[in-house]
Amino acid sequence: MRGPGVVALIALGLLAWGAWYLLAEPAISQPIQFPHKKHVELLECTDCHTRATKGPVAGRPSMETCLSCHSSGEGNSVEEKKLLAFAERGLEVPWKRVWRLPSHVFFSHRTHVVVAKVKCQSCHGPMETLDRPPARPLKTLSMNDCIACHEKGVGPSEEDEQKGAKPVEAVARRRISTDCNVCHR
Ligand code: HEC
Ligand code: HEC
Ligand code: HEC
Ligand code: HEC
Ligand code: HEC
Repeated sequence: MRGPGVVALIALGLLAWGAWYLLAEPAISQPIQFPHKKHVELLECTDCHTRATKGPVAGRPSMETCLSCHSSGEGNSVEEKKLLAFAERGLEVPWKRVWRLPSHVFFSHRTHVVVAKVKCQSCHGPMETLDRPPARPLKTLSMNDCIACHEKGVGPSEEDEQKGAKPVEAVARRRISTDCNVCHR
């Protein structure tokens, strides 16, 4: 292949790259390569994301929480040294947000984590397997995903229903409202 063929191929390649670049969500890079995997062996999700059980926002752990284990400066890895460098300057780590809904949608972690007992993983995917911060959401929730679960409602699991749940357990399945203004305020 020569001359025009190569030029055409390069042009095609650039076009494809351009389309990918414009359409794909931008990758997010965090200031420290925090590994979820090493930490979930020691802590529960809500030990660090404490506000998930209390209000709308899950929040991220403060420097104080990190330092309760990472305070000695000796024999540390490059990533731990970065953590201590923020600490020495009296700064919190400037983590960037990965999951974000448009501002016209209302969502509360407390309602889903405490009241509805939905697992973090059903909305966020397998965070516990990560060796480094996610560059993009592992799982995204479209409006239809929210509504699909609300329509299923709460009550005995489908498995229990198939097994013929006992009378006391057989509370009626309660549908969650899917009125527009439940989520859009
Ligand atoms: C309960 C104790 C504990 C807390 C709290 C904790 N860590 Fe860790 N962290 C560990 C342990 C244990 C390891 C694994 C060390 C190893 O494998 O050598 C680790 C590993 C790491 C590593 C990887 C180090 C490497 O191998 O490069 C980073 C980065 C890190 N932690 C950052 C943080 C940050 C940031 C916070 C606060 C958000 C935090 N840690 C909170 C115990 C903790
Ligand atoms: C040692 C504290 C710690 C533990 C335990 C922990 N996390 Fe995190 N989490 C962090 C830190 C620090 C970040 C920001 C860096 C990153 O994205 O990896 C984060 C980020 C996240 C994010 C992305 C938030 C955003 O900005 O959109 C999600 C989702 C999340 N964690 C879920 C979980 C889940 C689910 C678990 C339990 C399986 C868990 N975390 C356990 C410290 C922790
Ligand atoms: C029903 C779905 C759902 C469940 C369950 C859920 N999340 Fe989230 N999470 C979301 C959505 C949606 C966002 C984006 C919210 C926004 O932009 O207002 C989010 C954002 C976050 C964030 C970043 C923003 C913030 O609120 O601080 C963290 C951290 C997080 N979730 C952690 C968790 C943890 C830990 C659990 C389990 C204890 C959990 N989430 C359970 C849907 C869920
Ligand atoms: C896996 C199931 C599931 C998913 C996914 C889910 N929800 Fe829910 N949601 C529930 C349940 C169950 C309740 C009812 C809790 C109760 O009051 O018993 C609820 C209640 C609510 C409420 C009303 C209660 C309140 O907080 O005032 C809002 C708003 C809401 N969800 C928004 C959302 C949005 C937005 C999404 C998508 C980003 C979403 N939900 C995804 C199960 C889910
Ligand atoms: C259970 C929660 C929930 C309910 C109920 C709900 N929505 Fe949404 N809606 C969402 C979420 C979450 C998004 C953002 C989805 C995303 O960013 O992909 C959204 C996005 C939208 C958007 C913007 C679409 C866009 O492309 O940005 C419109 C318009 C909308 N909803 C209208 C409605 C109308 C009309 C109703 C009632 C018939 C309704 N919604 C009911 C959760 C809900």
